[in-house]
Amino acid sequence: MGLYTTLTNMITEYTGLSPAAFFTIAALMYVVYKVVSGMFVAADAYVEVKRDQEYVLREPVQIGDITEEELRPYDGSDHSKPLLMAIKGKIYDVSRSRMFYGPGGPYALFAGRDASRALALMSFEPSDLTGNIDGLGASELEVLEDWEAKFEEKYVKVGQLVSEKKTAPVVDDEAVGNDKLQEDQTKED
Ligand code: HEM
Repeated sequence: MGLYTTLTNMITEYTGLSPAAFFTIAALMYVVYKVVSGMFVAADAYVEVKRDQEYVLREPVQIGDITEEELRPYDGSDHSKPLLMAIKGKIYDVSRSRMFYGPGGPYALFAGRDASRALALMSFEPSDLTGNIDGLGASELEVLEDWEAKFEEKYVKVGQLVSEKKTAPVVDDEAVGNDKLQEDQTKED
């Protein structure tokens, strides 16, 4: 007896249904299961959604002066950090627009960066992902100003990009001594 015949005989014996009726019911149950389970969010996805919501609701925090390199990790990949983006050196908290700038979003490439050049040129070229706006024309600078105005209105400014972080001045005794010497000499002159 073939495998198929054995199977159909077993189905009829155990369920009292014809094989055709059995498979139709099984298929319907599968469809219902898929539809109903699709109405619920998987537990891990739910945690993700919840995290995103908490994130969006968090108040922007002032970050102060940071370098472009220090801005990079604020690209939304780390949920404990706000989502930041800069225009003309001004850093904005764009966490509330995670759907635009967060991972997988259409403008994710701008997050954690000064995107002035890309915005002015309306470009997605990686080489334009910079705050360097040298050589741009008047109309491009105007486009950039419009973006800046939009960001000023929509987001909270939380900091400023600096080329190098100001650190506490290192006191070099010898140098101080030399300066003093020069100062004294100038006075004498
Ligand atoms: C096919 C071309 C494009 C389409 C259809 C498009 C569409 C959109 C739409 C519908 C929005 C949402 C607007 C809102 O709800 O406030 C948006 C936002 C935005 N677009 Fe585009 N866009 C395009 C190209 C670009 C380009 C080339 C850039 C820059 C390089 C860009 C940068 C942005 C930015 C930064 C936002 C978010 C602004 C915000 O934070 O509110 N878009 N875009």
